[in-house]
Amino acid sequence: MKYPKEYLDEIKTRLKVSSVVSKVVALKKRGKEFVGLSPFKNEKTPSFTVNDEKEFYHCFATSEHGNIFDFVMKTQNLRFGEAVKYLANIAGMQPYLFTKQDEEREKSWKEYLSIYSKYVDYYHDQLLKNEKLSNARDYLKNRSLSKNEVKKFKIGFVEKNPSFFDELKKKFGEKTLLESGLFYFDEKKKKCVERFKGRLIFPINNISGQPIALGGRIIENLDYLAKYINSPETNFFKKGSNLYNLDLARKLSNKLDHIFLVEGYMDVVGLSKNGVENVVANLGTSLTDKQILTLNQFFDDIIICFDGDESGYKAALRAAENSIKDLKPEKQISFLFLPDKEDPDSFVNKNGKNYFLDFTKQNKLPIHQFIFSHYKKQTENNPSSMAIFEKKLRSIANTIKDNFIKKYVLEFFLDKIAELTPHFNQNKNKFSVKKTRSLESTKKLYNESKGITAVELKEFSLLYLFLNNLSLFQSNIHLVENIKLFSDINKQIFSSAINKLKSNETIDIEKLNIDKQLLDKINKFAPIKHILKNKPKNDSQVMELLDDISKDLFNHDLELRIRELESRFSEDLSETTFNQLKELKNERKIN
Ligand code: UTP
Ligand code: MN
Repeated sequence: MKYPKEYLDEIKTRLKVSSVVSKVVALKKRGKEFVGLSPFKNEKTPSFTVNDEKEFYHCFATSEHGNIFDFVMKTQNLRFGEAVKYLANIAGMQPYLFTKQDEEREKSWKEYLSIYSKYVDYYHDQLLKNEKLSNARDYLKNRSLSKNEVKKFKIGFVEKNPSFFDELKKKFGEKTLLESGLFYFDEKKKKCVERFKGRLIFPINNISGQPIALGGRIIENLDYLAKYINSPETNFFKKGSNLYNLDLARKLSNKLDHIFLVEGYMDVVGLSKNGVENVVANLGTSLTDKQILTLNQFFDDIIICFDGDESGYKAALRAAENSIKDLKPEKQISFLFLPDKEDPDSFVNKNGKNYFLDFTKQNKLPIHQFIFSHYKKQTENNPSSMAIFEKKLRSIANTIKDNFIKKYVLEFFLDKIAELTPHFNQNKNKFSVKKTRSLESTKKLYNESKGITAVELKEFSLLYLFLNNLSLFQSNIHLVENIKLFSDINKQIFSSAINKLKSNETIDIEKLNIDKQLLDKINKFAPIKHILKNKPKNDSQVMELLDDISKDLFNHDLELRIRELESRFSEDLSETTFNQLKELKNERKIN
């Protein structure tokens, strides 16, 4: 049985060759390519290269060459079907089932592609050559588009009275043609009509560069017609899953780490004409998670540049609040706001590429700064408004899935709020406190007290800090509630204390009913007390100490998990275990 190309392409779209290969080979970037030691031969100097743009790897030592499927087959000794299953799984896709329905779908997919490609070619050709279409060509000229752009984007024009339907009908059934979305059945006229008649058409391609939908613009100002229409969603085209110009822009990902995301087709064409070709547009709908994820496959830095009007701003805010939750440590999303009434197309045409890029450099706002400044603008200097402000920011930060990013974004928000409320935070002068690194020496001292492990000492420090600053942690419960402890008794009192703090009543240490003996032990052995003893403590110092301790505990947990997985892997040798292990080790590198 043959896997449909659509399915295999989807896997390739989701997985860069370098990301698949780097699970096995350590890769270094060199120019457009990546290099590493060949997995097919023992070698000391790297002769193995990976090219994401061309979607292949090549080994100069052994002449091995191929795509991600070949790579997995060769390095893991799998058959093709197994390699597809393995990669589909990594790509987050369902395994492919060979049913009759799938076969039919594959057949309609081929027809669909063929209809679109014939349609796009035909009307592109018409626009270039048909004498009668000079009005469309004049329109393009007025917008200062040359043949180059028309060809690069395969722009076409559908005549007012088109006849291509009859041509296509010689090859395809009427039902199939209607399902393509290019035509609809006109009940009054009782016939199939071209949806895009009288419009310039912009082909929307899939990642492999095949047209799968269209955007169409009128060229006369007619109030009763929408300026743009898009192909309706079909079996093979979902708006939120595609981006205009991704097929061309992604090829630049070896040279550039950032991509511009704009609103309109003409913005893409205009920027590209001015030499900014790393640009895509979402298709007149809100930005989706899938679109962000796809862009991140290729680019680390997404710059969202919507129109400089109110609707552009609103769309940007929606995009920011939606996409901040998926922010990853190695990725960035920022926002660029253009002067009022400008869109990227008009702006770059007026000012040129260099000005546009300089303007970007100086004005782009990282996502968290944009969100902060948006809500700050709406906040007044009174308790109720400030409270709403802080709550909103906390809740946005809480949607972030990555714990590290969540922590730093929250810290950024809270620091900025603290700047706005200097009286309330008189003591909070976070950056003047030197990083306290004496934990090591005190730890040594107490390691001598037999029977208490280093981790337990850490936990004692945590508990000491916590118990002596209950009210501070009550209002910052999110900073402590996820800290993982290891010794049963410490774990138990910590979690029960946290639960009590969450109840919102005023809690003091008496109310926590902690075993006296344990409390004595904490007070006696917690290494941290020597740090706190000599200096006047303030909230920010406490927070900083907490940060240190919780990092240490987190790393301890990481080590335990790594050890556990290592021993599991030596028994089961399973792919899943290996991948989990790899992920944890990566995390260890980041810390
Ligand atoms: P704009 O109105 O900003 O269009 O819509 P534009 O790209 O600047 O186009 P020009 O310069 O006037 O030719 C931005 C995008 O919103 C969608 C389209 O995808 C368009 O590219 N849109 C706009 C529609 O779907 N329908 C409309 O009627 C208008
Ligand atoms: Mn425009």
